[in-house]
Amino acid sequence: MLDPVEEIKQKLDIIQLVGEYVPLKKAGANNWRGKCPFHNEKTPSFFVSSDKQIFKCFGCGAGGDVFTFIQKIEGTDFPEALRVLAQKAGVILQKQDPRAISQKTRLLDICQFSVKHWQDNLTMSDGLIALDYLKQRQLSMQTIKNFQLGFAMDSWDDLLNFLKAKGYTETEIFQAGFAVKKETGYGFYDRFRGRIMFPIWDIHGNVIGCTGRILKGDEKVAKYVNTPESPLYNKSRVLYGLDKAKSAIRSADLVVLVEGNMDVIASHQAGVTNVVACSGTALTMEQITLIKRYTNNIALCFDMDAAGKLAAGRSIDLVLAHGLNTKIVQLPFGKDPDDCIKKDKQLWLDAIKNSISAMEFYFKELVLTQNLHNVDGRKKAAKDFMAKIAMLDDVVEKDYWIKRLAADIGIDEKLLRDALPAKTKKNEPVNKIQQQPIISTRNKYIVLGEQLVGLLIKRPEFLDYTANLFAPDMMPELQLEKLYENLILCYNKNEKLDQCLANQKICDSLYLNSVILYAEARSEGFSETDLKNELILTIHELKKHYFEQKIETLRREIEKIGSADKVRLDKLMLELQDLVKQKLAIGD
Ligand code: UTP
Ligand code: MN
Repeated sequence: MLDPVEEIKQKLDIIQLVGEYVPLKKAGANNWRGKCPFHNEKTPSFFVSSDKQIFKCFGCGAGGDVFTFIQKIEGTDFPEALRVLAQKAGVILQKQDPRAISQKTRLLDICQFSVKHWQDNLTMSDGLIALDYLKQRQLSMQTIKNFQLGFAMDSWDDLLNFLKAKGYTETEIFQAGFAVKKETGYGFYDRFRGRIMFPIWDIHGNVIGCTGRILKGDEKVAKYVNTPESPLYNKSRVLYGLDKAKSAIRSADLVVLVEGNMDVIASHQAGVTNVVACSGTALTMEQITLIKRYTNNIALCFDMDAAGKLAAGRSIDLVLAHGLNTKIVQLPFGKDPDDCIKKDKQLWLDAIKNSISAMEFYFKELVLTQNLHNVDGRKKAAKDFMAKIAMLDDVVEKDYWIKRLAADIGIDEKLLRDALPAKTKKNEPVNKIQQQPIISTRNKYIVLGEQLVGLLIKRPEFLDYTANLFAPDMMPELQLEKLYENLILCYNKNEKLDQCLANQKICDSLYLNSVILYAEARSEGFSETDLKNELILTIHELKKHYFEQKIETLRREIEKIGSADKVRLDKLMLELQDLVKQKLAIGD
């Protein structure tokens, strides 16, 4: 039987996988190119190869296969990456595969088992009350199943006992966030009791936490209880329902952001599936970064109460600052989308279609709600709204809003223009990953050496010429020296170069493939003449560097021995002269 790691590699296409995170453009027959997600760069030096199934960034050096990619971009360990990719590839892992087990995957299993348990509870007599509640909220059985809704029994240890019987420790259950430490400091009890359970998924659809809602309007306890931060669950990085919405977001090129989990569920049930929730908290930078993987267009729908409006203001500014095209959905009915959909789902569809621009929203909120008949009201409206106008990039748009403001509050346009505050510096969109420093600054000459080797593998007909001018020991690094030396050997043996090199096991195959990928990427679109010039230049640079290094070393040695050893000194001086001559011969 095929090894699962190999099977996954065969079934998944790295171009597609990486493409889910990084916009890629075709660059040559087998390669794709984009901006590196692992360091900040203006010109794309991140390549993905479809025939080699690897990625490689020539800026920061990051590289590897599908597994490395997921580990790096999601910050997971290998077992987690294995599970994520197995799921994507439809490969079933043997549970006992030790490579698939880590502390995190045990917690993931706890989540999965708990959700299943809560789902099963819905069919027990003690859980029927919950099923009734869900039905009364007009959720279909299909929706309940789809969103894996369940019920946590009104018990202190129902879940704990269930999980302990499966072999999990109380500490693990606590770490997953499903148990609470007793105040005595000794022992644990179930965190969720007598609540409707909503699992929370990561973008791959793994359950990583959950939120529980009280059954009835019992005002004495919190309406929703969430799992605390855990090794799996970081609330600022999650958008509820994204795993189920992501493909619809891509195809609609729009994400609709709502506040409540119930709103997401109701909307999906109504057939509008590009909807996710920020779960009642202010939108975070990480969530915006996540959204930007899928679309640059966002429609925000906030509850129509005061708190909702406040949250709206903060979130709007944040998404605008991140360069997303931002629209605001205004509900014609109800306090939230769930209410509105219950009344008539067409109202919800229309509300999204008729969403207004963020500026239009601010205009309504900041200007039209003020009493424009008195001076104070007009001053306040002008001041608040001018601050928003100042944030705009587009001059035409700026002009439009100044005119409209002037007309509505009855102030001379010119006065407004003079009062326009200097453009407030927007928060630069910061990507968490991009904040990380470049992993390694690569030595220029090593890069050149790799370029040379890569080019020669692709175009062996240049090898004769190169070998005559450039000896293996002129390479800036031992690994490259060996690679180049073997390249010449393979060439003389008349074997297929990349195959022959791979067989020699001088370096790992990722390195070899990256070197070839680099040469392909560099020479993309080069004419034959360009290519030859490139070759000549590369050899020249490397040789110059080689001589410079040698001369420098020799100088130091000469300095060190001084006049103590006359014979040796003379010999070294001769050597030095020779090297300087050779360096002069190759020119600048
Ligand atoms: P809402 O109070 O608007 O709830 O909070 P809702 O989604 O409309 O739920 P229903 O319709 O009353 O059942 C919006 C979101 O804020 C979070 C939840 O994620 C909720 O979906 N929230 C709310 C909490 O985390 N804790 C709370 O106590 C209340
Ligand atoms: Mn609601």
